[in-house]
Amino acid sequence: MNHFYFKDNHLYAENFLVEDLAKEFGTPLYIYSKNQILKNYREINQPLVNSKLDFINCYAIKANSNPEILKLLAEEGAGAEVASGGELYLALKFGYLRNKITFTGVGKTDEEIEYALRENIFNFTVESLQEIKVISEIAHKLGVIARISIRVNPDIDAKTHPYITTGMKENKFGIDSKDIMEVFKTANGLPNIDVIGIHSHIGSQITEVNPYIEAVKYLGELIQKVEKIGINIRYINFGGGFGVQYKNILTHRYIPTEEDETSRYSPLGEHVESVIKMLSAYNKKLVIEPGRSLVANAGILVGKVLYTKQGEVKKFIITDTGMNDLMRPCLYQAYHQVVPTTLKDTGFETVDIVGPVCETSDFLATKRSIQVMERGDRFAVLTTGAYGYSLSSNYNARLRPAEVLVDGDKHYLIREREKVEELHY
Ligand code: LLP
Repeated sequence: MNHFYFKDNHLYAENFLVEDLAKEFGTPLYIYSKNQILKNYREINQPLVNSKLDFINCYAIKANSNPEILKLLAEEGAGAEVASGGELYLALKFGYLRNKITFTGVGKTDEEIEYALRENIFNFTVESLQEIKVISEIAHKLGVIARISIRVNPDIDAKTHPYITTGMKENKFGIDSKDIMEVFKTANGLPNIDVIGIHSHIGSQITEVNPYIEAVKYLGELIQKVEKIGINIRYINFGGGFGVQYKNILTHRYIPTEEDETSRYSPLGEHVESVIKMLSAYNKKLVIEPGRSLVANAGILVGKVLYTKQGEVKKFIITDTGMNDLMRPCLYQAYHQVVPTTLKDTGFETVDIVGPVCETSDFLATKRSIQVMERGDRFAVLTTGAYGYSLSSNYNARLRPAEVLVDGDKHYLIREREKVEELHY
């Protein structure tokens, strides 16, 4: 996260003092670093380029679908992984090529399927036999052929939070191993279906390499079986899921260090490169769908302390931002580092940093050690570029934050703060 850093005890976003941006745009405020996004994209793309594999790097736009961020990655050459008709609309509107758009999801509606077929996108990742039949019927009605990749559920534990594990038997995603050959056969026999690939996305925020290696092995064996029955698999879609660092992002003598159980993080670092090597052996075109690893560490959420309150058993720092702006702590008990935007030598105290929403689960951090925070102090919640704004809501009729993109010494308001009048549209 080297585009967010402390200098003289002040937090910077590229060349800007975060305090200045917060004064100009108000809080809560999402700030993104353009150069961090580009760095992340290139870090992921380069090993693929070096591998000489034919590949499509499809940004999972659910991670952050701000139009300017979408445009930025489209201009870099990314494709898009979309999970709804709305995301497909955004991808098309903001510059993604049809032949680089892949549509995933267990519950595509007939309207969404028709929309995607009319737009002639590159691929549908399909998740049930019934869905494949519906796609075939709609394609028949339109007189087109639908290209599909069949998503398999390999029953592999991605060792991440249960809510973001997707490749286990009890998850709704993909087709179970026991049925998969039958589904390939049936799909291949349908008139308006072209089975081009195989897909596996076993989860998100995966920090260990072993689940990936297991998945690659599984796919290799499956491809052999599928090809034996005469189906020519051209694409392996490996999904996304590359984990990022959340703890100890910014270090300083006025910031306490956290114990961190995860030792390796680099997105598509050397261990993931080994996966690429394994995939090269299969001699197929590769599709990956990174979301978080492209944008998470390129964003921060800035808030302001409204009140401090000493309860009987703990102290609360009550802020102007909470679960409606950033769901991850409440939804997954996710850890995000919280740092004051101006560091002071006050010593540390342990507090709960909470939002203003009428829910006990409305917290940004619990039992967190931090410098003494006072009313009016600003702070930044780090690594919130992915699944931050995109998961936000208007709960409590709260207005969603503004979003600013910084690029060296330039900054752009890329989404205005919502206005109260917009609440009744
Ligand atoms: N491909 C598919 C089919 C997916 O379902 C997802 C994420 C991705 C790619 C991108 O995964 P990533 O590279 O971002 O891990 N809201 C949760 C994460 C949900 C992920 C959903 N699917 C969170 O905040 O942790």
